[in-house]
Amino acid sequence: MSDRVKLVEVGPRDGLQNEPQTIPVAIKAELVERLIACGFKEVEAGAFVSPKWVPQMAGSDAVLAQLSPSTTVSLPVLVPNRRGYEAAREAGAKRIAIFAAASQSFSQKNINATIEESFDRFAPVLEAAAQEGISVRGYVSCVLGCPYEGEINLEKVVSVAHRLYDMGCDEISLGDTIGVGTPNKARTMIREVAKAVPMNNLACHFHDTYGQALANLYACLEEGVRIIDSAVAGLGGCPYAAGASGNVASEDVVYMLDGMGLKTDIDLDRLIETAWWIAKALGRPPNSKLAKARKPL
Ligand code: HMG
Ligand code: MG
Repeated sequence: MSDRVKLVEVGPRDGLQNEPQTIPVAIKAELVERLIACGFKEVEAGAFVSPKWVPQMAGSDAVLAQLSPSTTVSLPVLVPNRRGYEAAREAGAKRIAIFAAASQSFSQKNINATIEESFDRFAPVLEAAAQEGISVRGYVSCVLGCPYEGEINLEKVVSVAHRLYDMGCDEISLGDTIGVGTPNKARTMIREVAKAVPMNNLACHFHDTYGQALANLYACLEEGVRIIDSAVAGLGGCPYAAGASGNVASEDVVYMLDGMGLKTDIDLDRLIETAWWIAKALGRPPNSKLAKARKPL
C-alpha cells in the first residue's frame, strides 16, 4: 500500500457554501491561494450552481479569474448540469465535480431531481468534458446515512458510485454528508464500494457532525483509501442537510496522517495559520482541535 495520501481541500467550496454572511471574492481567492501555499495539489474552488439555491457560491467565476493558472494544482468546481458545465468551462475550469446521492430524498432536496434524473443531467456533461479535455470527479452523498431517510441501503451506494465511475468520473468521493457514520460501518461501506470501483479511485469525504470523522477515516485508510477530502478549520456544511456540521478539519487529518507515517507534503504550521486567518475573516474560532491546540502566537 502506498505511503502517500492525496488531500483534496474542499474548504473554499463545501466550507464556505453554507456561511450566512456574504464572503468577498477577494477573501475566497486568497483562501485558495493560501491553501496552495500550504502544499495542497487539489483545492475545490467554487460551484457553478444556481445562485438562488446556494447564494454563497455566486461569483465562482470571479474567484477563478483571480487565481493564477497553475499546471501543478488542480482547482475543481462543482457542476450540477449542462448550464453549470458551460459556465465552468468559460471560467477556465480544467476539472469539475458532479454530485449525485445514494438517497432519493436528498437528491430531490439538493438538486431538485431524482437520482435517475440526475444521471440524465450528468450524461451530456460527461460527454462534453471528455471531448474538451476537462476531467471529472463524482460525489456520492449520504453514503452512511441521510437526513431525510435515515439508513441508506449499501447496494444503492455501490450502484451510484459504480455508475459515476462507469460514465467517466476518475475519482469517486464518498460523502458522509451528515457525519453519522461510525468506523465499522465506514469500513464495510468502503469494502463493498471497492468491489465495484478500484480503491485507488475512491476518496472519503466525511463530515464531522458526530465527532466520528477521524475514526472513520482511520478505518478507511486501513482498507487502502489514499484520497481524503477535508476542509481547513473544519469549515463546512450542506445547506440541504440540516444539522450537518463541518467537514473533517484538514489540519487534524494531516496531524493524524503524519503520526501514521503517511505523507502529504502539507506544511502543517502554515495550514494552522490559514485556519486562524479564515476563522478571523468569518468572525469565529476555527473548528479544529489542532488549530486550537497550536494557536500561532
Ligand atoms: P431547478 O430549479 O430544478 O432547475 O434547480 P431549473 O433548471 O428549473 O433552473 C432554475 C433556475 O436556476 C433558473 O433560473 C435557471 O436558469 C437557473 P431562473 O429562470 O429561475 O432565474 N440555473 C442555474 N443558474 C446557475 N448555474 C446553474 C444553473 N442551472 C439552472 N448551473 C439546480 C436545479 C441543480 C440548478 C439547483 O437545484 C441547484 O443549483 N442546486 C445546487 C445545490 C448545491 O449546490 N448543494 C450543495 C452542494 S452538494 C454538497 O454539499 C454535498 C457534497 O459536499 C458531498 C457530501 O458532503 O455528501 C458534494
Ligand atoms: Mg460535503
